Amino acid sequence: MTADRPFFVTTPIYYVNDTPHLGHAYTTVACDVLARFMRLDGRRVRFLTGTDEHGQKVEQSARLAGLSPQQFTDRISEAFRDMTRLLDISNDDFIRTTEPRHIRGVQLLWQELERSGEIYLGRFAGWYSVRDEAFYDESELIDGKAPSGAEVEWLEEENYFFRLSAWQDRLLAYYDANPDAVVPRSRRNEVVSFIKSGLRDLSISRTSFSWGIPVPGNPDHVIYVWLDALANYITAVGYPDTESPEFSTFWPADIHIVGKDIVRFHAVYWPAFLMAAGLEPPRRVFAHGWWTVEGQKMSKSLGNFIQRGSRQ
Ligand code: ME8
Ligand code: MG
Repeated sequence: MTADRPFFVTTPIYYVNDTPHLGHAYTTVACDVLARFMRLDGRRVRFLTGTDEHGQKVEQSARLAGLSPQQFTDRISEAFRDMTRLLDISNDDFIRTTEPRHIRGVQLLWQELERSGEIYLGRFAGWYSVRDEAFYDESELIDGKAPSGAEVEWLEEENYFFRLSAWQDRLLAYYDANPDAVVPRSRRNEVVSFIKSGLRDLSISRTSFSWGIPVPGNPDHVIYVWLDALANYITAVGYPDTESPEFSTFWPADIHIVGKDIVRFHAVYWPAFLMAAGLEPPRRVFAHGWWTVEGQKMSKSLGNFIQRGSRQ
């Protein structure tokens, strides 16, 4: 590899269920340091951050605030943008999942997956956590809650599914061939053992609320917020125009830096979606640990955070 190979680094796109805190600032600053270093080293850098604005959790937060989801997300997304200004973050782009460039890209990605036979309509019955926006197996629950401690609810709906089970062997082969694709090693081991424990098809649409990107051809369904959100990493560099100079320069991303809470989404679902759509997976996912308060993860959902203007 030459030193001047382009470099694409991303933060997670943060949920706009509440304003930013130290945990978000931490990931963003880590990415900023890396981006600045690579620029000094002569690399052509793209540094992406942004906000994840759809889903049931955001819809609920908007309702509690007495605002429409759009008004609410406009306001909180701006607070995340303010954080980047306050910290003098050198991001080249800030993507919002409510932008037309993103919505169009996600719908085309869906159609691509559908065309390749990776999506089918079925019935979901199982546990869902709105706080994590995640589906859990019965066997994963601890004292009736998600492993994260979040409440879960029983959900039964007609859903579209992604054939994740069919990707199990290919994901394992991929991680065998690319031992540093998830770092540090402890997180890689966690990912590999999750895949080995057996992947089930993944529900990728919801019908019980409406704040999301409509499924092409069936607007009773909105696209599962994680399929929507993960796609930001490609829609921000021009997807679906995979021939564009931007896309061919910057994809696959060099590194997605994330907290350890969202490794499964980045290191299992995301490479499977990409490979299924005929795209390359990211070169690396780096997962860091948590800022904690009295032993608990600092979080918007728990409200135990330290943020701008916090007083002790
Ligand atoms: O998960 N310590 O958004 P989110 C360290 N929208 N880092 C922390 C932290 C803590 N206590 N709390 C948050 C989402 N973070 C999805 C992501 S990406 C396609 C979609 C940081 O608002 C850390 O990077 O819950 C974590 O992974 C991220 O914020 C989660 O932010
Ligand atoms: Mg979170």
